[in-house]
Amino acid sequence: SKTRHFKWEVGYIYASPDCNEKILIGINGQFPGPTIRAKAGDTIHVELKNTLHTEGVVIHWHGIRQFGTPWADGTASISQCAIDPEETFVYRFRVEKAGTYFYHGHYGMQRAAGLYGSLIVDAADGEAEPFRYDGEFNLLLSDWYHQSIYDQTVGLSSKPFRWIGEPQTLLINGRGQYNCSLAAHLIEGSNTCETTSKDCAPVVLRVLPNKTYRLRIASTTSLSSLNLAIGNHKMVVVEADGNHVEPFMVDDIDIYSGESYSVLLTTDQNPSSNYWLSIGVRGRKPKTSPALAIVNYSPNSPSKLPESSPPIAPEWNDYNHSKSFSYRILARRGAPKPPQSADRRIVLLNTQNKIDGYTKWSINNISLALPPTPYLGSMRYRLKNAFDAGTPPENFPSSYDVMRPPTNPNSTQSSNAYVIRFNSTVDVILQNANALAVNVSEIHPWHLHGHDFWVVGYGDGRFDEKDVARFNLKNPPLRNTVVIFPYGWTAIRFVADNPGVWAFHCHIEPHLHMGMGVIFAEGVEHVGKIPKEALVCGMTGKMLMHNHLP
Ligand code: C2O
Ligand code: CU
Repeated sequence: SKTRHFKWEVGYIYASPDCNEKILIGINGQFPGPTIRAKAGDTIHVELKNTLHTEGVVIHWHGIRQFGTPWADGTASISQCAIDPEETFVYRFRVEKAGTYFYHGHYGMQRAAGLYGSLIVDAADGEAEPFRYDGEFNLLLSDWYHQSIYDQTVGLSSKPFRWIGEPQTLLINGRGQYNCSLAAHLIEGSNTCETTSKDCAPVVLRVLPNKTYRLRIASTTSLSSLNLAIGNHKMVVVEADGNHVEPFMVDDIDIYSGESYSVLLTTDQNPSSNYWLSIGVRGRKPKTSPALAIVNYSPNSPSKLPESSPPIAPEWNDYNHSKSFSYRILARRGAPKPPQSADRRIVLLNTQNKIDGYTKWSINNISLALPPTPYLGSMRYRLKNAFDAGTPPENFPSSYDVMRPPTNPNSTQSSNAYVIRFNSTVDVILQNANALAVNVSEIHPWHLHGHDFWVVGYGDGRFDEKDVARFNLKNPPLRNTVVIFPYGWTAIRFVADNPGVWAFHCHIEPHLHMGMGVIFAEGVEHVGKIPKEALVCGMTGKMLMHNHLP
């Protein structure tokens, strides 16, 4: 295994991801950021310089466990102090498992400003994936807003509340088309777009007939849940969040923010035609046009328009379609099985609330407010009063009706954390509910840092003790992100074997900003020496100043 070195500068740049020039956060002048490619067992060493000038920055390596390096998880206020302008921070960590991952900003709403890129881990030398393919493509999906993240952030925390609305454009590898005909783009000489920029030209997947390709698909959307389909072709799902799944064939896949998949595509259709790959919005009434890419059968010209029209995504509110896809995802034979029982069960009710008239999301009636001193340092050095004391609730009142808006929508803000016994097995039940408006319940993709978890069950309505008997303990899939469907619940199980402090939150950027997350701390006394650069703010900063480092 190798150490792979990267030197990055993060800063605002001009870019036209959808043929409209805006500023966004790039890395080394690139958007999306450079792709990291490594082999399982390698060490990644990123020297990150913040050139944002007026704000801090951190980068989270989504899906990487950070076993033994919790300070490299890249979460502001949780694992480290944000990197100040002109300062450099070194992220150094091991990638243990082959799979499709990505990285992104984890401070304020910087992810939505374009701070993301792909992280692909290949099997270690001498190891092989349990499926074969002739070539591969990487598709990093995102959504794009023309409104700046500052404007978005202020609106979300204003009274009256200003919602960000639907994104202007869906992007594939940082490229999309807003308000201009993609066909026009393809037919030479009839380009009706305002720009001559190649930045927003459609992605082309150049394939040979009768081969099998691996498509790596990851979603780092701010808001949108997506559906991906390829005209005339079926796909076989083989990987989810860096874990092998029992292969199954589909016409289309749903992918939520924070998830990744690999699918195998066999190019067995009429080779004289090209085909559309289309990405549409799920779970919210779409106001955003689908993103299109071309599957270009060689030797056809990539600008040859496909004969059949782009596949249409299922109705946005066809939740049965989404559920049946999620329920089909199961661990590949031979995958690690979960412990057969749990030591603790935490039930987390997801509600939309009000605090002093501000709109928030709460978990068991607590809206997460991050503290000025990152938890990892304050817990490791046992600093008093660095965050709110007390344990957040393990459950919610049995009288709460998840099918109706909250009768008392008043909530509170807190920075308290769940402390989990090291090496214990934990079940978490994510319970969805009605939001503030009647007959509204939304999809939330929940992501856990520092772990993979087994998805042991799903259900509609309110979770009941009896449901435990129906948990799938035989072949539940391992993942790091899982969705809760409207008015439903999802049960996960994980082993708290990774010393550190870990965020568990809804991956929708505005929802996290509105407090939709919790903090898990485990085995913090086993955390090794935290690099000083991660501690230079808040109370740990003061501790360093007075040289009180134990
Ligand atoms: Cu990709 Cu805490 O998130
Ligand atoms: Cu959410």
